[in-house]
Amino acid sequence: MPVYVFDAYGTLFDVHAAIARHRDAVGPDADRLSELWRMKQLEYTWTLTLAGRFVDFWTLTERALDYALARVPSVDPAMRARLLDAYRALDAYPDAREALRGLKARGKRTAILSNGTLPMLAGAVEAAAIGTHLDAVLSVEAVRLYKPRPEVYGLVIDTFATAPADVVFVSSNRWDVMGAAAVGFRPVWINRSGLPEEYHDLAPIRVLHSLASLLDTPV
Ligand code: 2OP
Repeated sequence: MPVYVFDAYGTLFDVHAAIARHRDAVGPDADRLSELWRMKQLEYTWTLTLAGRFVDFWTLTERALDYALARVPSVDPAMRARLLDAYRALDAYPDAREALRGLKARGKRTAILSNGTLPMLAGAVEAAAIGTHLDAVLSVEAVRLYKPRPEVYGLVIDTFATAPADVVFVSSNRWDVMGAAAVGFRPVWINRSGLPEEYHDLAPIRVLHSLASLLDTPV
């Protein structure tokens, strides 16, 4: 019986929703600020892991926003607190709850595996009202390494006592799909915006345009 494991940020939760909620107050450079915020947040996870360091994901999210605000001076720095508050309760994608509910109704086990801290994930899960559809919420904090280190994906194996080939790993981050493929999971790439393929030698088993499609796609 496969376990369905979901990435959190970008896959279940819309990382650009924090800015979208305050788009008028942020102003015309809202999209640039949001892209920079996300890119720096991820860059810090990769560079610190390569350097043998660990700083929690909430702190990196704050530091990335500070950098993005410094690079986009048209945005009032006083927006910082409001944007961070919005990040704590990001909107889930509209089909996230239905996909998780449907998988549970079909008897599947489900989990989140994320870079996020446990308090961040608890806040987002509660805001999206998906807690009852999840068997586990796993954070990289347990190993103090970030994705795509194999030890992170190993948390799923330890938790569910299952073989890697029985893990269907769902992510909209192609580099995260790469990491999951590298440990022998069956990755599904949610490519909502038609991004080009990359990491060709560590490929997903399916490419879908929405989470809802998971319910009628054999894996
Ligand atoms: C997550 O681990 C990669 O941010 C993404 O939730």
